[in-house]
Amino acid sequence: MSMRKTVALIVISGIILVSSLLYFARVKPSTSVAAMSVSDPEDQAAWAEFVSLVHPLADGAPVSTPPSWETWKGKCAAGLIGACLNQPTSIKSDMGVDAATAEIPRQVLADFGAAKEKKRKSEVVKRFAKAPQLGSVLFDEAAVTAIGRGSFGKADALKAAIAQLDGEKATGADRHLPTGSFDPGSEVIKLVWEVVSADSPELTVYNPSKPAIEQNGLQLYPLQAWPTFYSIDPDTQKPCNKVLPPYGDQHNKQTISINCFYWFDIRGGDGCKGLSIDVAKLWCTPAFKQEVFYSILVGFHVMKLTPKYPNWTWMTFYWTRDTNDAENPGKLKWSPPWNRFHLESTAAIREQATGHHRICYNPYLEGTFDRGLTANCLSCHSFAAYAPDVSKLSDGTEDGEKYPYPLAQRASDEQKYFQGAVQTSFIWSISTTQNPQTAGLLTVFENAVEEELLHELHSK
Ligand code: HEC
Repeated sequence: MSMRKTVALIVISGIILVSSLLYFARVKPSTSVAAMSVSDPEDQAAWAEFVSLVHPLADGAPVSTPPSWETWKGKCAAGLIGACLNQPTSIKSDMGVDAATAEIPRQVLADFGAAKEKKRKSEVVKRFAKAPQLGSVLFDEAAVTAIGRGSFGKADALKAAIAQLDGEKATGADRHLPTGSFDPGSEVIKLVWEVVSADSPELTVYNPSKPAIEQNGLQLYPLQAWPTFYSIDPDTQKPCNKVLPPYGDQHNKQTISINCFYWFDIRGGDGCKGLSIDVAKLWCTPAFKQEVFYSILVGFHVMKLTPKYPNWTWMTFYWTRDTNDAENPGKLKWSPPWNRFHLESTAAIREQATGHHRICYNPYLEGTFDRGLTANCLSCHSFAAYAPDVSKLSDGTEDGEKYPYPLAQRASDEQKYFQGAVQTSFIWSISTTQNPQTAGLLTVFENAVEEELLHELHSK
């Protein structure tokens, strides 16, 4: 190579290096998630979605209309047959589908599965038992139709898709379910609940002005170690006050009404009928017969397919003490419980999104995971995939959490990751419900959590 060419090459690689360093320098972990803006079109669309889902009422109006998702379907009813062993076959008439489908969030399971050492595994279990969370995944009618049409809830259909892709010699992220499998308008949500016992109903809450950030600066503390919480007054006759006391902590407990939240209760005995097997197994055992638990909604995720964004649009809402009237486009003052949810949204992976959309996480869920403050919904959901012989959950979420993650590295990872697999239209539960390995992991996790909860009960 001539001297001039070598110099040119060095200069060019230097430029590439510096510009990629600059690029990643700009994608700083966000330490506070209140970055949305009222005039941003994606955020506006997300607020419109919020309104159409939960029907927030004007200040002072009585709460009457249940959220739209109450008419949607859980995994089993949506046709993901692998979930049917876990979800109740008949829902009690007075139980909402959101309560009936609440289960251990499979993302927590990914963490458990990825933990190699016994000590780390038991840490994940202890954390969960100290601040248990539940997740309800619900599908709207358009999504249910698509799952039925493609039989995506059956392993055979997914295996056939894999054979087809093999025949086409498709590689990397091109190994996806047929384009058009889901129609625009399809929606899937995941509700995130925290479970507290009526005995000491201390609900951990997110304080955006003082988030509990780990020393590495990349993620929040595990939920049970957050310093801020409210004691919940379960008396439904008492209203949620307009102004809430400051966040409570160990030294300064503060109580607020359960009416500040959307929630359901878990009562021992008959009250457990109609709840998922996960929940029944953990809280409806004879040991807890006299106990009552409240499952309180602290956040929810929404994915919606639109003609403009074939990779779906992604939104998440999370509860804080602050009201949201300065954030929603109409500057509306809503009634509790919907007046204290805040928003993040994105429509692209972190490295391709712009501005505050690069990072999009729910503090109550992804925020506490590995590199949670740099998380982006689509960065992880693009790895949602099914393979017949291995669970993609732990590997996929691990890739989904990678940061920094240069595009070239991602492309090369995708080549390996999607071999023998099929990308499941960004929907993780199509993969998790079909995989026997995931089911096995769930049983091990549940048994360990059950033991830990009983241990806590006995040491009270
Ligand atoms: C690190 C990986 C990861 C990140 C980041 C992530 N998710 Fe998920 N998500 C999952 C997994 C795993 C599931 C569980 C599927 C199940 O319940 O079986 C899931 C479930 C969901 C579901 C239910 C549909 C489905 O895929 O099964 C929705 C909706 C959802 N997530 C939205 C979001 C939104 C919105 C964000 C960003 C604010 C987000 N997710 C961030 C991994 C992730």
